[in-house]
Amino acid sequence: MPLLEVTDLKVYYPIRGGILGGVIGHVKAVDGVTFSVNEGQTVGLVGESGSGKTTIGKAILGLVPIRDGTILFDGKDITKYIGKNRSEYRKSVQMVFQDVHSSINAKKMVLDVIAEPIRNFEKLSRAEERKKVDELLTIVGMSPLDAHKYPHEFSGGQRQRIGVARAIALKPKLIVADEPVSALDLSIQAQVLNYMKDVQEEMGLSYIFISHDLGVVKHMCETLAIMHNSRFVEVGERNDIYKNAKHIYTRRLIASIPDTNPDMKTVNEMKRIEINKEYQEQYNNYYMEGGMVYPLKSIDGSEAHYVAIP
Ligand SMILES: Nc1ncnc2c1ncn2[C@@H]1O[C@H](COP(=O)(O)OP(=O)(O)OP(=O)(O)O)[C@@H](O)[C@H]1O
Ligand SMILES: [Mg+2]
Repeated sequence: MPLLEVTDLKVYYPIRGGILGGVIGHVKAVDGVTFSVNEGQTVGLVGESGSGKTTIGKAILGLVPIRDGTILFDGKDITKYIGKNRSEYRKSVQMVFQDVHSSINAKKMVLDVIAEPIRNFEKLSRAEERKKVDELLTIVGMSPLDAHKYPHEFSGGQRQRIGVARAIALKPKLIVADEPVSALDLSIQAQVLNYMKDVQEEMGLSYIFISHDLGVVKHMCETLAIMHNSRFVEVGERNDIYKNAKHIYTRRLIASIPDTNPDMKTVNEMKRIEINKEYQEQYNNYYMEGGMVYPLKSIDGSEAHYVAIP
């Protein structure tokens, strides 16, 4: 049984307007997505800005109401959790938020930022708590001496690591990591990603790793779901996606991965132009009216590789 099973999830945000400020329509932020996450697995959600990635994460955390569909965790419907089960779920699933500035309280010392979830769920003495915070700081490559500093005294990369330390404090089973490294320099990106991988191995964690950049998720995710216009255009194992992408949108995303090899620069630039042209010309063959994405179907009977084509 998968750890998390999301089926036909829909999340619509109300649009308010008119003189009375009533609901005059909806933004269909997530419009029917299905995927699952196994224990210890990392699933990547990749797609451009506004495609609905963060909304999926928030729905899993129970932070936005679900319009339709189900989310099962350990086989149980998360919307039906109450009392003790709800609190257990809130411990088991954590999110590293996209916007660290707003998710970390700038007025709190690092010690308090990281200890907050521990204080909410566990009764530890001051000394035990301090020991745990020191351990967490060490795991993410920072120093116990940092505990008495404030978030503004750190670089963006260090703040992201504080976010990761806080998310792992309760030994969750699943972490939704929303663009955890997108604000960072390439060299620091690799550092934070490596910490996340080490922690995963140590604790048997599962990740949902959200990014707009297929280059970043490449070494993190066994399975990838490519999102566009509120739905998945393609789902597959790492090799299916990077070596054998079927949807024009996925191929365009792959072509946009920055070059690491300067010798290939011209060749890749040509390829990018070619694929962009194909994307414009072939759009109507890949999307329904209004840009609506087709339902996914299996490629050659594969149980792992799916693409949204007519
Ligand atoms: N609280 C909200 N109220 C109304 N609309 C919202 C709200 N949050 C998000 N949206 C809309 O829902 C859609 C999906 O937003 P979401 O934040 O999930 O995208 P995203 O894929 O995470 O984008 P990004 O890569 O920029 O973070 C967008 O059209 C966005 O404008
Ligand atoms: Mg987002």
